[in-house]
Amino acid sequence: MGSGERILLAKPAQLGASILSADLLNLGEEIKRGEAAGVDFFHLDIMDGMFVPNITFGPLMVETVRRATDLPLDVHLMIEAPERYLDAFIDAGATTLTLHTETTGHLHGALQLLKRRGVRAGLTVNPATPLVMLEDVLPIADQLLIMSVNPGFGGQTFIPGSFEKIERAYMMIERLNPKCNLEVDGGIKASNIGRVRAAGADMFVVGSGIFNSNASVDDSVVLLRDALAIAES
Ligand code: DX5
Ligand code: ZN
Repeated sequence: MGSGERILLAKPAQLGASILSADLLNLGEEIKRGEAAGVDFFHLDIMDGMFVPNITFGPLMVETVRRATDLPLDVHLMIEAPERYLDAFIDAGATTLTLHTETTGHLHGALQLLKRRGVRAGLTVNPATPLVMLEDVLPIADQLLIMSVNPGFGGQTFIPGSFEKIERAYMMIERLNPKCNLEVDGGIKASNIGRVRAAGADMFVVGSGIFNSNASVDDSVVLLRDALAIAES
């Protein structure tokens, strides 16, 4: 299948702003800027200093952002043994919880809990982990996230080999669970989002490409939307 055909079949593009790159001292205003610019969801990176070197937010942050917006909260769990904290993040108001297969031996049970509690279930793998690790649980997932950087920090460079992995993920979704969204996270900018779309993705997480000192949130989102529109035309 050529990428043109793939786009025709694709789900509508959704743009998510990762608050990791936002000015946390003025987070409420940053969220309003994102909303006004028309982002579709907010992405929250939860890091524990174990699975990834960095430490970021906990359920309190999710609860705080939940009070500031009605948009979906896409919570990316980069923590060891995430099953310890699923209820806490759900209670805090997460819309989606995304789990790394490298962090738990009980991915299926964790997804069942998410389903029971009525939140969207996301799955992901690090760049070095093959997609086959997710094959048996993909049929019960709501979204599959392809990491296009090694998780841990914002502002990293998109790993070029990710394009091919996104294409393979798209085909795996078509085969096993066509309703599942395909999300990509890391190093997405206006310069490459079109190619990410053409590879089959429909959810785009952008941190430093939206929250940065070179352009306003509004201008950055316009550039990203324009690049998506060109890819779809
Ligand atoms: C990286 C995080 C990303 C990060 C993306 O570990 O999972 O969500 O915020 O930031 P950018 O778009 O700057 O790569
Ligand atoms: Zn993330």
